[in-house]
Amino acid sequence: MTTSTTIRWEQDETGVVTLVLDDPNQSANTMNQAFKESIAAVAERAEAEKDSIRGIIYTSAKKTFFAGGDLKDMIKVGPELAQQAFDTGTAIKSSLRRIETLGKPVVAAINGAALGGGYEIALASHHRVALDAPGSKIGLPEVTLGLLPAGGGVTRTVRLMGIADALLKVLLQGTQYSPQRALENGLVHEVAATPEEMLAKARAFIDAHPESQQPWDVKGYKIPGGTPSNPRFAANLPAFPANLKKQLQGAPYPAPRNILAAAVEGSQVDFESALTIEARYFTELVTGQTSKNMIQAFFFDLQAVNSGVSRPQGIEPRPVRKVAVLGAGMMGAGIAYSCARAGIEVVLKDVSPEAARKGKAYSEKLLAKALSRGRTTEAKRDALLALITPTADPQDLAGCDAVIEAVFEDTALKHKVFQEIQDIVAPDALLCSNTSTLPITGLAEGVARQADFIGLHFFSPVDKMPLVEIIKGERTGAEALARAFDLVRQIKKTPIVVNDSRGFFTSRVIGQFINEGVAMVGEGIEPASIEQAAGQAGYPAKVLSLMDELTLTLPRKIRDESKRAVEEAGGVWPGHPSDAVIDRMVDEFGRTGRSGGAGFYEYGEDGKRGRLWPGLREHFTRQGAEIPFEDMKERMLFSESLDTVRLFEEGVLTSVADANIGSIMGIGFPAWTGGVIQYINGYEGGLPGFVARARELAERYGERFQPPGLLVEKAEKGEVFGDA
Ligand code: NAI
Repeated sequence: MTTSTTIRWEQDETGVVTLVLDDPNQSANTMNQAFKESIAAVAERAEAEKDSIRGIIYTSAKKTFFAGGDLKDMIKVGPELAQQAFDTGTAIKSSLRRIETLGKPVVAAINGAALGGGYEIALASHHRVALDAPGSKIGLPEVTLGLLPAGGGVTRTVRLMGIADALLKVLLQGTQYSPQRALENGLVHEVAATPEEMLAKARAFIDAHPESQQPWDVKGYKIPGGTPSNPRFAANLPAFPANLKKQLQGAPYPAPRNILAAAVEGSQVDFESALTIEARYFTELVTGQTSKNMIQAFFFDLQAVNSGVSRPQGIEPRPVRKVAVLGAGMMGAGIAYSCARAGIEVVLKDVSPEAARKGKAYSEKLLAKALSRGRTTEAKRDALLALITPTADPQDLAGCDAVIEAVFEDTALKHKVFQEIQDIVAPDALLCSNTSTLPITGLAEGVARQADFIGLHFFSPVDKMPLVEIIKGERTGAEALARAFDLVRQIKKTPIVVNDSRGFFTSRVIGQFINEGVAMVGEGIEPASIEQAAGQAGYPAKVLSLMDELTLTLPRKIRDESKRAVEEAGGVWPGHPSDAVIDRMVDEFGRTGRSGGAGFYEYGEDGKRGRLWPGLREHFTRQGAEIPFEDMKERMLFSESLDTVRLFEEGVLTSVADANIGSIMGIGFPAWTGGVIQYINGYEGGLPGFVARARELAERYGERFQPPGLLVEKAEKGEVFGDA
């Protein structure tokens, strides 16, 4: 008998013990206190009854194999709980190790997702058989939550596949593999089509290897590829992706650096010492702020957003079957592809059959690439392409139950294209516009059914960008909102919901980031330092190069239109120090950005970006001392965070989870912060610390950094920034 509560011990007459992971109190198995006790009891019993045991199989009674660490607990770990967390981890690892070194074959029969702790249990087994269940994922994604796998994950992957492969394939990007790809990449030994086959394979391994042990427990074992002594070696590997290099060289992501250090240091010592090193680096991460930020965003907020915190309740979902995409340009082509990929029939309309066909050709291009990389099959490609019908004839839109418009950014044109098709599509079709800046309420005036009209703001490139910003106009109905939300989920993207306003949330807030970078040019700050500050703050794109990509005339147009709108409404346009810089760049120097062949950077004939334009230093000169580098980084981060708070004040934003997720997934706000609002809540000194720093920046750089009243109020009450 065992006292185990989360693991069932099932021994058959041949001596094979199946350890069924089955936490009675949770829908998924996690590495909690009960598991710690259960696995210790199992290890003890296995040692005591060793002679009657022929082999051990881990498997689970849940849909997932094992979910990993308990994030609800982990987000709370501060220095005071660190020792306890360390001890729990050490105890679990030592139990797994006792089973691993029993001298009997140990097999993981991975019946569902095995991520993080789940895959670490599998790694502590001598053989891994994965069931090819749909949606099942295998890997160590801890890095994406600012952590490292400290259940032996670093130590064992390094010994299993060598340090370079362990880092690149498993640890540093946290890739989640399908069972088949896990097999191809050496994470598992076998894949099975059915649960019966999986267990049969597990037993076959036990039969064939009565005295199995881990390769690293065999005397004289050497780590494949050797053990580098220089911890910087991996950062210099030519195969290292650029974003990882950046994270390892200064951007504030402690997890990749700690993983690298744990892997390199751990490869030079014995197994047990390596486990201790790994645990030490983990403790540093779990008690720090970055992992808390990232767990908040990528686990709790993302779950809240995708599960529909912002979707009206009580409205029956109605999956879209046939969508009309108006405009087959860059965005329309990408939207058509994303819809077809989700199995939705698409009618792609443009002004001429050629233009429409060109839009479909984009899908052909993407699929050809996927096929050449083995990511799709010819049959799947053909099926997807058959779903897209290019046309110039409005009559072909008959029967469409949703419309997504992506023609040029022009209100009159958008009105015209909706008028042309509104009586042809289904009488209750959902009407969406992919405008990036135009207020939805005004666009809705062009259609007969304003309650069915809504903004659906995609990001470029559509096939890669996971976010869609849904914009409710003043007359948008709850039904339309629910349907738009469901459509975004149907195409497997993440929807955030905002109220109408010029630029909505994302376009307006990213504008603050860019304006701040440009304003610094105007102050005569070394342009290369500005770019470096953006990188070191953790932004994926450098600020001036981003401005060049968007073209300098675009913000000017948006600014002039916004200014006119504000003044017409009797308001005062505040202006921004970046205005003068953009005007001079365009009017005086004729530098409009990349598409114009010259911007903040120089560009070659082929459009390739060269160096920063030396004229910047000549025409924008610095009066006074250089400003602190920390100020440069925080001016960018604060400008976006403060404007987000203003959007809460204005009622454009209402959900903190939407704000955090939208900022990271839509506009490149650094992921280590956990998003715009989490950045404020997690700032050193909490809300009061953030407010004090904002005031300091306001004093040094301008009134735009004054903290909004809502923030000051919450700081004074000792609250965190929560939902409106
Ligand atoms: P684009 O210029 O690549 O494509 C526009 C397409 O609309 C062209 O193919 C044009 O022939 C077509 N068109 C014009 N009049 C038409 C009509 N009467 N009927 C059917 N088609 C017509 O523009 P892009 O970049 O795809 O932008 C489209 C919309 O998406 C704009 O509202 C833009 O603001 C918005 N948007 C753009 C983003 C971007 O990154 N480019 C991001 C998010 C939204």
